[in-house]
Amino acid sequence: MSQGPEYIDFLKGQRQTRQFTTELVSDADVEALLEVMRWTGSSKNSQPWQFVVVRDAATREALAQATQYTGWIAEAPLVLVVLTAGSDLTAHAYDLGRVDERILLAAQALGLGAGIVTFWGEQGQRIARTALNVPGDWSVYGAVALGHPADDAQPARMGGRKPLSELVHWDRFGS
Ligand SMILES: Cc1cc2nc3c(=O)[nH]c(=O)nc-3n(C[C@H](O)[C@H](O)[C@H](O)COP(=O)(O)O)c2cc1C
Repeated sequence: MSQGPEYIDFLKGQRQTRQFTTELVSDADVEALLEVMRWTGSSKNSQPWQFVVVRDAATREALAQATQYTGWIAEAPLVLVVLTAGSDLTAHAYDLGRVDERILLAAQALGLGAGIVTFWGEQGQRIARTALNVPGDWSVYGAVALGHPADDAQPARMGGRKPLSELVHWDRFGS
């Protein structure tokens, strides 16, 4: 699966899942996900992160209140949160994005569904920081919620993707 056209299809096929069964994510799967997260490359190999594994229902429900786009994570059996170093929310944005994307792909490899949420705005930040007990010198931008996809889980499709003809420039912008 790590080589060839099937793997390209695997990468292209990753979709946001927001509906899950009540089946828990196994300890072995959690460990596998954490190992993938830990091995993610970062700028200067600084690994500017801490990982919070949320399985407690009350904490998930509290996090779900963060914004109008996070409610569904209350029903996800597992939420993985990557905290980044420092109080600047975007200081490690690239590193954070790499970890979160890997969680999505690792989840897919394990047969799980997963989706991203962000804790936007003053309220989102306050709720997420309180729910997770985040110290002042760490930032929490968002989370990835995971579980076994519900049978009728239709990954939300918000209009497919722009065609390459609208996106790609060869050699120089505008050509
Ligand atoms: C930076 C970022 C923030 C996102 N925040 C949320 C969110 O708060 N809630 C949510 O339901 N989806 C969120 N998403 C998921 C996007 O809506 C999803 O990736 C996009 O619609 C494409 O979905 P698809 O791959 O299933 O087509 C976020 C995605 C990214 C990359």
